[in-house]
Order: sequence, then C-alpha cells, then structure tokens
Amino acid sequence: MKRSLGIVFKPVVLFALIVLAASSLSAALLFDKSEYAARRQKFMEKIPDGTAIIFGAQPIGSYYPYAQSNDFLYLSGVELPNAALIIDGVRKSCALFFTSSEAAARNHGIGIDLVKNPKEVTGIDVILPYENLSNQIMAVGNRAKIVYTPFRPEELYREASLEKFQSLLQNMVLNPWDGRTTRELQFVKVLKERFPQIEVRDCSSLIWELRTIKSSAEIELMRKAGRIGAKAHTALMQATRPGMMEYELSAVLNYVCEKEGAQESAYGVIISSGENHPYVHYAEHDRLLKDGDIIVVDAGPDVNYYDIDITITYPANGKFTARQKEVYEAALAVHEANMKVYRPGLTAAQCRQEVEEILKKQGFDLTKDYFKRLRGGFGHYVGMATHDVGGGPQTLKPGMVFANEPMIIYAEENLGVRVEDTILITETSCENLTAGIPRSVKDIEALMKKDGIPQVLKKAGLY
Ligand code: GLY
Ligand code: MN
Ligand code: MN
Repeated sequence: MKRSLGIVFKPVVLFALIVLAASSLSAALLFDKSEYAARRQKFMEKIPDGTAIIFGAQPIGSYYPYAQSNDFLYLSGVELPNAALIIDGVRKSCALFFTSSEAAARNHGIGIDLVKNPKEVTGIDVILPYENLSNQIMAVGNRAKIVYTPFRPEELYREASLEKFQSLLQNMVLNPWDGRTTRELQFVKVLKERFPQIEVRDCSSLIWELRTIKSSAEIELMRKAGRIGAKAHTALMQATRPGMMEYELSAVLNYVCEKEGAQESAYGVIISSGENHPYVHYAEHDRLLKDGDIIVVDAGPDVNYYDIDITITYPANGKFTARQKEVYEAALAVHEANMKVYRPGLTAAQCRQEVEEILKKQGFDLTKDYFKRLRGGFGHYVGMATHDVGGGPQTLKPGMVFANEPMIIYAEENLGVRVEDTILITETSCENLTAGIPRSVKDIEALMKKDGIPQVLKKAGLY
C-alpha cells in the first residue's frame, strides 16, 4: 500500500531466500492480480511487433514515503523500488525483475507475500533477480526488431507526467548551462547506441490510452476516494469562521482525509481568498480570513495512488453577499448543466451548446460578463495523477474520469469562484464521484450555522 515503505531500501540483498512460516503482514497488491494481468494483456496487444522494457521508480532517499511510478504500478501492481518489467508483445510473455529479502520487506513494510511468493502474488510467470536484468536487456536487444520503452518521465506522488515533462524540458534539456536528459531518454540513447539495428519506440501513450478508461475496480476505489473528499470538504465548510488562518483550514481537511483512510493529498491544498483569487493554484496558506471574504478551496485525497479533484467556494462568515451569490450561482449553474448533458459520445462543442440551451431555458442572461468567461465543457482527466495522463477528453467515453470545474475570477473585486467535482462517464450518462457536498447557497449557509470540528473541540475545552 502507499506509504508502506520507509526511506532507504538497501539495493542488493538476497532474493527472497529466507522462508519463514509467518503469513503476510499486509495485502501485497492494491487490486486483484487478474486486474493487472488484464492490463498487461491489453498492453501486449498494443505492441504485437516488439518488446517493452519499463523501469519502476528508484528509492528516493528522503523521508517522504516511497512511491512507485504510476505507469509501472499500473502494469505490475508491484510497489518495490528498483524493479523492472520486460513485456514481450511477440511471444506474449512478461518478466518481473526485483531483488529483495523478507528481512528488507519487514523493515520497510512491504507485503511479505510479494517477496516470498512473487509468482503467486503477481500472477507474473517469470520473476528474476534485478541483477539478471542487464543480461535480459542484452538478449532483447539482440533478438527484437522493435523495443518499446516510455519516453515520458515517470510520474510519482503528486506529479503529473505531462507537466513534469515540460518542466524538465525547460530546466534541463533546453537549458544550455545544464543539458541533462531524463532517466528515460538516457535509456533510449543507450539502447540506440548499443543496438543500432533496433527501432526504439515510445510506449508512454500506449499505457496512457489504457489508463484513460477506468476499470470497475479502479472506479470502486475512486468512489471511495470521492466519498472521503466530499466528507472532508463538507467538514471544512462547517469549520470555517472569520479569524482563522488558512493553514487551519488545511489542517481540518487533512485531518478528515487521513482519518478516513487517505494516505496523501492528491496535490498541495489550494486555498485562495482575498487578493489571492487570481492565483488559481495558491497554496501558501498564509492569509487570515476576514469577514466578507469568499474562499476557494481546491483539494482532494489520494487513496492508494488514486486522486480526487474537488473545489468548494463559500463565504468565510457563512453568508454570501449579493455579488458573491450572483457569480457563484452562475458557475454552479454551468456545473449542474454540465452534469445534465455529460454522456458517452458527447463532444466538447456539443457540450457547450447544450449547456447554453439549458442556461437560457433556466432564465440566465448569457450576455452577462461572467458567462462570457465560461460556458460548459470538460476539464482534465483524473486518475493516478490529478492532472492525469492523456490531457482531457475530446469525446466522452464510458470509464473516463475527469474534472467538471467551471471557474470565474474578478481579481479587482477579490472575488473568485470555482465549483469542481470528479466525474465518471457511465454507459448512459455520468456519475459524480464526489457527490454529497452542499453546493447551493441555501445549503452552504445552513451548514455553516452549525459548529464544526474546531468549535466543538473548543466548547469541550479540548483545543
Ligand atoms: N486541483 C488542480 C486543478 O483543479 O487543476
Ligand atoms: Mn482542482
Ligand atoms: Mn481540476
């Protein structure tokens, strides 16, 4: 499970040699092994002419919990540092490489079963020590015509592969004073040098095409994460009062998420209020909330590597001003109209048009400035990353999960609103994975009249 590993994993230890009678300490994989077998099968179908070599994440050497890279975890379920997969699309076979020992596993909280019975636990027939990987790569290089490997950088905890790639490109690759390449592109370079006769192809997008459509097991997990996120945001609204610091809001939110079983925040909790509304990813938590402020909190839990994206907008004092209400209700109307039209086959252009029709029928004046700023549409995919691989939908398909996130900002008025939920496309329509948060002005104001966690603690003399 995520957060299960300590910081340092001794790189070379015996390969699963110590056999003890003890049963496993924790489940070894997040999903049933058949889930991963099905994913590898689909991946093999995408590489019928070659062999893929995919590395897992290395030990991180810090006090953050170890995180496996999302693509590697997606295909293997294996949360061990220094592991690799060779997936042969021609022979339809798969080999997993890792080196560990039961003692190391115990020390770092890795599922003992995985180390003791890797074939049984993973469903992968060929398990070899990591030290054999080099020979196996030589064999692939000498045999295969086409070798696939991900060209895009690995995506770790709180990262988004596409954004990381752009950042690395700017900071390293295109910087004349640096010029380093990434681990992935270095591997591509070495492969091409050692085996000039082979064609090296990028398989990042092939894995991402699979990740874009969530399986029922993934959906079930994201529903759980969504429920946690909705509960945390509701508790947060109820807890907020003028005079609190923004960091107190973050503490309430994280308390509820972790209490409910989330391991991490999907991204640093974003809180915009006052003059910070234009900074849509503001996460300094350094403002004292004042009477009359409207607050935007964008946050979600990460549950077993799956992220949730939620934003709430509400008044610090529990009562919207007329102007805050007007702009907030415009964004909420777009969000709700989106929910009415999302269905398989819908394009972004159709979505905008149908949302417009709904808003007109509801009597909204679409010439208002705030409607010019937004009118329906699809946000980014959500999954193992918050800004998930593949960008966002063009045409909706069942199994897609993405953000419905209309947003309006008036910097000059210290006014920002955003209404965001994480949405699943079903066979016929859509499902709000983060349903249950009070969203109407009436419901928010009613909720904020009740004591929240800090008020209850204070009254009880506890904090
Ligand atoms: N949570 C970041 C976003 O909504 O884009
Ligand atoms: Mn968000
Ligand atoms: Mn979002």
